[in-house]
Amino acid sequence: MAEFTLPKNSKVTKGKHFPAAPGAKNVRTFKVYRWSPDDDKNPHTDTYDIDMDACGPMVLDALIKIKNEIDPTLTFRRSCREGICGSCAMNIDGTNTLACTKGVNECKGDVAIYPLPHMSVVKDLVPDMTHFYAQYASVEPWLKAKTPVSQAAERLQSKEDREKLDGLYECILCACCSTSCPSYWWNSDKYLGPAILLQSYRWLADSRDEAKGERLDALEDPFKLYRCHTIMNCTNTCPKGLNPGKAISEIKKMIAERSL
Ligand code: SF4
Ligand code: SF4
Ligand code: FES
Repeated sequence: MAEFTLPKNSKVTKGKHFPAAPGAKNVRTFKVYRWSPDDDKNPHTDTYDIDMDACGPMVLDALIKIKNEIDPTLTFRRSCREGICGSCAMNIDGTNTLACTKGVNECKGDVAIYPLPHMSVVKDLVPDMTHFYAQYASVEPWLKAKTPVSQAAERLQSKEDREKLDGLYECILCACCSTSCPSYWWNSDKYLGPAILLQSYRWLADSRDEAKGERLDALEDPFKLYRCHTIMNCTNTCPKGLNPGKAISEIKKMIAERSL
């Protein structure tokens, strides 16, 4: 039987331990993935004990406390702190989610924090999103309409048509869904993944868009769309409660219906 082992330099080793301040009573332990391109050390997990009586309730509060008060070398992305920007997406307690909306109390035992899986790591908890954003640009995520409207007019939409965008426009492109998708793990060079396909469907579902045919032509490809096997990890993980698996099915339906 074939045996597979990780290359030596990619094995995650045990890092440093930063104990809580003496006298702390309400202590939670955070085990955080660390890797830097600036030295030749293996990736490792550092352990930080945090006094939760002196820390905000969210995982992001703990990371900010670590960076501000314990270990300024820890690197992670964050901006809005309210689930809007998508920049604090990471793997927490085994699930891809947003650090700013994940309560420490929702995690059992030690809180394990890793970068989003199957992405190249820039440093510590920061994944390289270059390819993901290039895939987003590839679906041309803007309104395409040739019918002229006067400068003073808006492109109007009925209330019912506007409602068709609910569950789509709220996507914050955090990539939690795509990086939880096994098909995306193995084929992200060609498969667009659930986040980008949901974004693509957002324009396909827009009554004002006049480029449905060309958008569907671009997606009708064995890899870009049809690598989705309806495993639904994407929908289960979305921190905004969206359903990218359903959006993908809707695109497949649109393609099937136009070929009838
Ligand atoms: S439903 Fe499709 S996109 Fe979602 S996790 Fe499964 S294979 Fe990936
Ligand atoms: S569908 Fe959800 S998980 Fe996927 S990118 Fe959008 S907000 Fe994030
Ligand atoms: S900091 Fe913006 S979504 Fe978490």
